[in-house]
Amino acid sequence: MTVPTYSVETTAPPSAPAAAHAHLLHGDSVEQYRRTLADGVERVARRVATVGRPSTGITPAELAPVVDRVDLDRPLGNADAALDELEDVYLRDTVWFHHPRYLAHLNCPVAIPALLGEAVLTAVNSSLDTWDQSAGATLIERRLIDWTAERIGLGPNADGVFTSGGSQSNLQALLLAREEACAAAITPAARADLLPRLRVLTSAAGHFSVQKSAKLLGLAPDAVIAVPTDPQRRIRPAAVRDEIARCRQAGLVVMAVVGTAGTTDFGSIDPIAELAVVCSAAGVWLHVDAAYGCGLLVSPTRRHLLDGIERADSVTVDYHKSFFQPVSSSALLVRDRRVLRHATYHADYLNPARMVEQRIPNQVDKSLQTTRRFDALKLWLTLRVMGPDALGELFDEVIDRAADAWELVSEDPRFEVVTRSQLSTVVFRYLPTGPGRELADAANLHAREALAASGAALVAGTRVDGRHFLKFTLLNPATTVDDVGHVLELIAAHAGRYVLEHTAVDLTCHVG
Ligand SMILES: Cc1ncc(COP(=O)(O)O)c(C=O)c1O
Repeated sequence: MTVPTYSVETTAPPSAPAAAHAHLLHGDSVEQYRRTLADGVERVARRVATVGRPSTGITPAELAPVVDRVDLDRPLGNADAALDELEDVYLRDTVWFHHPRYLAHLNCPVAIPALLGEAVLTAVNSSLDTWDQSAGATLIERRLIDWTAERIGLGPNADGVFTSGGSQSNLQALLLAREEACAAAITPAARADLLPRLRVLTSAAGHFSVQKSAKLLGLAPDAVIAVPTDPQRRIRPAAVRDEIARCRQAGLVVMAVVGTAGTTDFGSIDPIAELAVVCSAAGVWLHVDAAYGCGLLVSPTRRHLLDGIERADSVTVDYHKSFFQPVSSSALLVRDRRVLRHATYHADYLNPARMVEQRIPNQVDKSLQTTRRFDALKLWLTLRVMGPDALGELFDEVIDRAADAWELVSEDPRFEVVTRSQLSTVVFRYLPTGPGRELADAANLHAREALAASGAALVAGTRVDGRHFLKFTLLNPATTVDDVGHVLELIAAHAGRYVLEHTAVDLTCHVG
């Protein structure tokens, strides 16, 4: 059978069904598949090679009409035309994380072997819910879970599952912790009495997905208690111990302590070993959110920063942050595989209970999702091509670079810098002198927006003790200290101009 092609010039288009069939990947359409994918790769490659700034600074108001103009009911008929259109609606104005002056959020440049994995996994389209939809893919995911659990040191009974991201991993961890805490509440009345009394302790610098999870899990609105941190923004284990005691006295039940190995803003790593001691003495579940800090698992020089993580009951890792994987790629690991039963439901059509007796490995028995991407393949190919040490070296490099950036900012009298990160963030703000000082919040907000609008660089913002700060998150080894210095100059220029203009206006008003 010949494969129909559909250039716009085609005079006698094939019948509609034949045309539709040719768009599906099958034995007769592989040439089309090869060409189409190669064209797409070429477009991206061209962009990656030539973009001069991380974004164009386009606004939603400017871009929305371009996207809205596309008539989704009138297909273009061929991929080349669709790619031309894609340049306008996406590729031209997107945000490029590989650019060295992208310094905003926890987005990494991606490893090429992982992109190969992405191309393979989407074409084969395995679904990781059951063995009969995945075969070897299930075994590959299991090997990677075992490999990660070994790196953490969770012991022989560990298990886990890939998830869509850190938020989902945290949600599942807290679901398991809630069910373990409710184990003794066997009657519906006992459970209804216990649920509103459950509490989760984490630091104020912990990730907001903990609060979101508590809500999704039907806990009380005040279920998440923010425990004080030390000056380095690490949770105080003694305060955790005191809070557990206070909760118990008040008739509350602490169902989990969430330690963070790499807080989103400060890159601080809670003292996990000390938390483990407190939790084990109190019989409380310890979850470690290592979404950001998990890259330390492969670091040749900094693995010790995670000491104590091996004592956690559950651990979140985000390979799509510090393992240089494309979104999505995350996992939840547990010390005792039996707790994963809380995520198990047997459906007759999919994973009937008898399959457990037949020892058929169905990952859906452990997952909150049913149909699930074979994200594990990306990490597999990355490890097989690059190996773990190379990944760890890349993460080490950005941590070293962040330390240099911290020095640079802290030595610059125009800026105030917050605690030195154990990972790769730098939280700082432009601090005007004299009467402009009270404009500090507005000037920093303005500088961030003006910088983003120019597209020259992207930085993040956050609040520290009620004040507006800016944040660099370094995850790109290609970012140099010169890049950081250049972005600081741009920020100082934007913020300084703002202060000047606004103090000048104030003075004019006073004179008038
Ligand atoms: C510490 C921490 N935990 C969890 C998350 C959520 O991860 P995701 O965005 O993959 O859902 C983040 C995201 O930045 C994070 O920094």
